[in-house]
Amino acid sequence: MSKPSSTEQHFLCPLQELAQQQSRAFEIDGQALFIVREGERWFAYRNRCPHQGIKLDWDNEQFLDYDGELIQCATHGALFRLDTGHCVAGPCAGSKLEALKLLEQQGQLFVELN
Ligand code: FES
Repeated sequence: MSKPSSTEQHFLCPLQELAQQQSRAFEIDGQALFIVREGERWFAYRNRCPHQGIKLDWDNEQFLDYDGELIQCATHGALFRLDTGHCVAGPCAGSKLEALKLLEQQGQLFVELN
């Protein structure tokens, strides 16, 4: 992560508010996205499955599989790596989620959107 530098940044939440191996959905200016935390790293992706272009999460904004090791699409079960968004299993294997740039400033998380 790098420090914020443009005017297209949107505040998400305090860094530590998201526990390890957890995820959270956001809707900003009509754009659906989510963040995941893996250890001391945070990642952001558009909430859109490359298989059918629909949202990935379960009803309770849960994006991860049972073990919290992979992102899992609720519709057909595609599995994606937390750190790269690459699909490792399922109907869109080989494709990837659209990553968004996350920024950190004084313990706060921001995302850059177009
Ligand atoms: S819509 Fe995500 S796996 Fe089919």
